[in-house]
Amino acid sequence: MSEKFDLIVIGGGPGGYVCAIRAAQLGLKTACVESRGTLGGTCLNVGCIPSKSLLNLSENYNKAVKDFKNQGIEIGDIKLNIDKMMSNKEKSVQILTKGVEFLFKKNKVHYIKGKGSINSTTEVTVEDKNKKTNFKTKNIVIATGSSYSSLPNLKIDEKNIVSSTGALSFSKVPKTMVVIGGGYIGLEMGSVWSRLGTKVSVVEYLDHITPGMDKEISKEFQKILSKQGIEFKLSTKVSGVIKDGDELKVEIIDNKSQKKDFIKTEKVLVAVGRKPFTSGLNLKKIGLKQDKFGRIETNEKLQTNIKNIYAIGDVIKGPMLAHKAEEEGIAVAEILAGQAGHVNYDVIPGVIYTSPEVAMVGKTEENLKQENISYKVGKFPFLANSRAKVNNETEGFVKILANSKTDKVLGVHIIGPHCGDMIAEMALAMEFGASAEDIARTCHAHPTHTEAIKEAALAVDKRPIHF
Ligand code: NAI
Repeated sequence: MSEKFDLIVIGGGPGGYVCAIRAAQLGLKTACVESRGTLGGTCLNVGCIPSKSLLNLSENYNKAVKDFKNQGIEIGDIKLNIDKMMSNKEKSVQILTKGVEFLFKKNKVHYIKGKGSINSTTEVTVEDKNKKTNFKTKNIVIATGSSYSSLPNLKIDEKNIVSSTGALSFSKVPKTMVVIGGGYIGLEMGSVWSRLGTKVSVVEYLDHITPGMDKEISKEFQKILSKQGIEFKLSTKVSGVIKDGDELKVEIIDNKSQKKDFIKTEKVLVAVGRKPFTSGLNLKKIGLKQDKFGRIETNEKLQTNIKNIYAIGDVIKGPMLAHKAEEEGIAVAEILAGQAGHVNYDVIPGVIYTSPEVAMVGKTEENLKQENISYKVGKFPFLANSRAKVNNETEGFVKILANSKTDKVLGVHIIGPHCGDMIAEMALAMEFGASAEDIARTCHAHPTHTEAIKEAALAVDKRPIHF
């Protein structure tokens, strides 16, 4: 039997590693168990970080091919070196995962390599290379994240039928790719390969892409992506994928007519959502409650039905986003240290890192209608923003929703250049309970894209200056 910890965190992704660091900062003797071999979880290893690397590099390539000449930049023949692009991506991943290991050392978090399971409410077993070690602990945080979902009878081989992991590592640009699911992963990875030359078709079950997003933004987003060459088949269900020689045949059914059809393709990306990953943790044995979707049930303190076991991130309810998991990790660490840890779920931004980006925080128009809250809308197009204009990035708009009686900002939705960074201003404003008038009266630097936010806030009161 080895040493006893105040806290063992199972899972070293953004939720788990941030929780471990904060707990150690607060003086708790903390360990973090991770089986992948590197820290950072799905996000750093095979998710947010490598996809953002490819999104950035493919956008640069696309601009060089399509835009530079019109902007007076002539650089002759442009060649794509996919191997170099991939190694660039891998280097970024390596630097960042090693960085987390350094932060563990700096903060004195014990990094335990291996697969963790819960032996009893005060004991975690870690298996590494067929060796099992037990660790005693006062508290446990489950931060084991999620794994991809698939469709019935569809086997992902990560070569031809891939999840996001496979789509991050093609060794050459496929001629064609069918993306099943018009959500975050499908549209980001679809954009990467479309920019590099793949003919991408997105098949989406619903009659619109990105469910849950403000409908007006979602429509504009689809229009822009279509203009970029991505093809959409909406209200269409994928019923199967069969191998046909060197190709794949994706069988589709039109939801309205029930007519069957198929699309021939080289690759298929399955992006139909993710599910909580709790396999091998022993949850049944210890009597830990999960809901019908397999999510671990927690109360407002992120505590499970066993009082010294907590759960955070993708294994519990809420959006499957790295920054949501991080906030929960910090909240749990602070609760364990006797502080008032808290997460404001009303102000969790979401960003899709396409070009242009899409960013949102708070309620959509559809939410407000459903909740019978009366609201005012202020909109401002990037076409009328001077910085966007000089940069030739005029697609999209800012939309602010404010309470019609109190003027309090209830939701902000942006499609346009750099809005993934701009949304932070609005998250901060909403944390402080700002009104649209507060934002309209805040001086924004000129010329910046952020002036579009100020103008949208002015538009809530029907007094924009530049439109
Ligand atoms: P998602 O939930 O965003 O989208 C899945 C889509 O697949 C939905 O639109 C759904 O209607 C559709 N679908 C389901 N079954 C279908 C079928 N049989 N045929 C056609 N369409 C079907 O899930 P996604 O894109 O897989 O992402 C998983 C998670 O990862 C999300 O929760 C997302 O929040 C997170 N993520 C976040 C990113 C970011 O913050 N930028 C980037 C990538 C992923």
